[in-house]
Amino acid sequence: MTKKWWHGKTAYQIYPKSFYDSNGDGIGDIPGIIEKLDYLHDLGVDILWISPCYPSPLADQGYDISDYYNIDPRFGTLADMERLIAEAGKRDMVILLDLVVNHCSDEHEWFQKACEDPEGEYGGFFYLRKKNGDGTPYTNWRSYFGGSAWDELPGTDYQYLHSFHKKQPDLNWENPRLREEVYKNINWWLEKGLGGFRIDAIINIKKALPLRSYEPDREDGLCSISAMLKEARGVGTFLQEMQEKTFRRHDAFSVGEVFVERQEEIPDFVREGGYFSSIFDFSGTLFGKSDKGWYDYTEITPDDYKKCCFEAQDRVADVGFLSNIIENHDEPRGVSRYLPAQDLCLESKKLLAVMYFMLRGLPFIYQGQELGMENMPFASIDEIDDVSTLDEYQVALRAGLSEEEALRSVLRLSRDNARTPMQWDDGENAGFTTGKPWLRVNPNHTAINAAAQRNDPDSLWSFYKELIALRKDPVYGETIVYGSLEPVWEERHNLMAYYRRGERLLLVIGNFQKQEQSVTLSSDYKKTLINNEKGLERKGRGLVLKGYQALVLELEA
Ligand code: GLC
Ligand code: CA
Repeated sequence: MTKKWWHGKTAYQIYPKSFYDSNGDGIGDIPGIIEKLDYLHDLGVDILWISPCYPSPLADQGYDISDYYNIDPRFGTLADMERLIAEAGKRDMVILLDLVVNHCSDEHEWFQKACEDPEGEYGGFFYLRKKNGDGTPYTNWRSYFGGSAWDELPGTDYQYLHSFHKKQPDLNWENPRLREEVYKNINWWLEKGLGGFRIDAIINIKKALPLRSYEPDREDGLCSISAMLKEARGVGTFLQEMQEKTFRRHDAFSVGEVFVERQEEIPDFVREGGYFSSIFDFSGTLFGKSDKGWYDYTEITPDDYKKCCFEAQDRVADVGFLSNIIENHDEPRGVSRYLPAQDLCLESKKLLAVMYFMLRGLPFIYQGQELGMENMPFASIDEIDDVSTLDEYQVALRAGLSEEEALRSVLRLSRDNARTPMQWDDGENAGFTTGKPWLRVNPNHTAINAAAQRNDPDSLWSFYKELIALRKDPVYGETIVYGSLEPVWEERHNLMAYYRRGERLLLVIGNFQKQEQSVTLSSDYKKTLINNEKGLERKGRGLVLKGYQALVLELEA
């Protein structure tokens, strides 16, 4: 495999609205990110993915872009972004922006022009269809955020398609003019010195044509868009073209938000010369989701989690690199999801960190994860901002749940759990803003915050720092980045273990329960690289793991 500049890196996702507010308006901003670059550099991360900060009406928190060539004044200016790229560069860090091109905002100029003249050039940038005689939607697809995926094109007798919010009209990738516009924008940014992009919702760009209705899957008479996506073929042609005309020319890093319908296609996305540098592994986050809605979710157990990780690793093997996560801005906090609530503590949080971080691939850390930030104790649906949670709440009510049950069921998965302000210190508003934060701060910031952890060698923050440093270690880095992954003791309950085999042999092992567990090593112990507990109980090859103990050991190869 040809070595790439990004292989050994660790990435960090910033949700700008909630990261750090530099001017007291309650909204995080780019100058705020610049102020915190030293914090990030000290942690050791090198790739910073910034969720959208382009001009946007914020119908979906910036994933609805009205100008691809600028920065929203709430977040700063284009000059601030250029300064961020330069300041990051001085610290050997690169910036990734979010590429949101399945759809734009209905306030984008293209859409405005399409409304003025649906049959003109910009009409061809969207999926427009003449209204049915009876006024019903063109197809029966349910948008991801609920309701029909079709709405009236204002002032015309056309409808337009929006897979997401009605303020997010889908762009028509079949149109070569649209594709050229997208590539032009990507190159414009890359020429500014950007390291690359995280690519949003990209599987949705290819629709099965001709557009048609499918079997309804709920009582609303609509069907999930995935029914159509399952039939769509040929997304690769677009992605290959984009790759050749943009990323490859700049040796840029690209990581796709890819929910592939056909698992066997995954290698095409990540192999050398594939569509992207990497794609996120969402197998843990997808586990337990039901077609009925969030209220019907099945909790994931440690055994399920292990299985998800190993299956994903097996599919990609050494063909390419997955991007591994435990959370992001669309998910609840990883520690609240993957660890039993009654066992949430410093050790168990460290264990989860080790287990996902040492997988083959690129580790991504979402802001606040390094502090062990937890789900937000929202008390009422009125505290929720996220469009998706609000919709799922209605779905739960319609399914017959009481208000209380509906609230509880959607809070488990609410995207707002991860969107509460970053917890910098134990002071007012967690040091995030001197004003009124746009979303309430988690009350546990008095205990969980950066200031308390940065100088504490036993903190989760310091532990993440150790893990990040280990990826770059001159002796072990090669094995951690390029070594193969082999599951061990797969059938053991509440135990997750795997070898990383390269120049060295490493064993990564974690005991997902309070009770001890013992194992017998298959070869001799050499050294402990990571341990979330004080000591190690070992006699020869016999190892006793304390509750929630996690280790990275070097073994005799
Ligand atoms: C992706 C984003 C999510 C957004 C959606 C529509 O899934 O991560 O936040 O709502 O795309 O752009
Ligand atoms: Ca601000």
